[in-house]
Amino acid sequence: MMWLSDNQISQQRLGMYPWYKLLSFPTIYKLAMRALGGHACRARFVDRYMLAQPGDRILDLGCGPGDLLDYLPAVDYVGIDVEPKYIASARNRHGERGTFLCNDVVSVNEEGLHQFDIIVASALIHHLSDDECIKLFHKCRRLLKENGRMVTLDGCRVPGQHMLDKWMLDLDRGEHVRTLEGYMQLATSVFPNVQASLHSNLLRIPYTHIVMELSLSLQKRGPHNLKLTHMRSM
Ligand SMILES: C[S@@+](CC[C@H](N)C(=O)[O-])C[C@H]1O[C@@H](n2cnc3c(N)ncnc32)[C@H](O)[C@@H]1O
Repeated sequence: MMWLSDNQISQQRLGMYPWYKLLSFPTIYKLAMRALGGHACRARFVDRYMLAQPGDRILDLGCGPGDLLDYLPAVDYVGIDVEPKYIASARNRHGERGTFLCNDVVSVNEEGLHQFDIIVASALIHHLSDDECIKLFHKCRRLLKENGRMVTLDGCRVPGQHMLDKWMLDLDRGEHVRTLEGYMQLATSVFPNVQASLHSNLLRIPYTHIVMELSLSLQKRGPHNLKLTHMRSM
């Protein structure tokens, strides 16, 4: 299912989960992320997996209010998000450091978007249906440099996970939280090289994340060179 911006979320879902509407306000989203430990989570994700170098060309899909920029060196940055309130906040705070487009990432026009060193999708993939993911991965293949990488971070279902972990995933605004196999199947149907790792210690609450690194050629920059599908500390 496509992401629903504030005015598109069905009354039924809003009635069941009233905080969805609140979370579309950038300040409330940022406070919620901070309370859960989002700062440390982002810092580790950027440090261990994005591995951005000054001058890299970076595309941030589902960029939200653009908070990732706080963790990046001086890069050539483009952020895309479908929620107008997030894009307004990102332009207001980071307008000098990058370009922000208010658009759906799956259908966005590719003109002017190309030759990226890194494409990042932080907490986006679980908002997209399988068909949308496949379309997006194909688009990313076209937009990456030959030796570029796509890096994703999402909540993940694992057998026997903590009740609170499962509950958080059930309540997520994204309706497509998958298992490791589910995410991997989609990614490997488009990218020849996919490395995945599970992390259970990135937030202050019990929560399982999956990080995937997708590329056309085997990468030397990431922290691992082999396909990796096990629980590890970041
Ligand atoms: C959980 S937030 C993550 C925001 C940010 N990447 C972060 O890590 O804090 C998911 C974001 O994806 C955006 N999003 C979901 N579906 C989208 C789509 N089809 N096109 C563009 N943005 C989308 C939402 O508006 C939201 O900002």
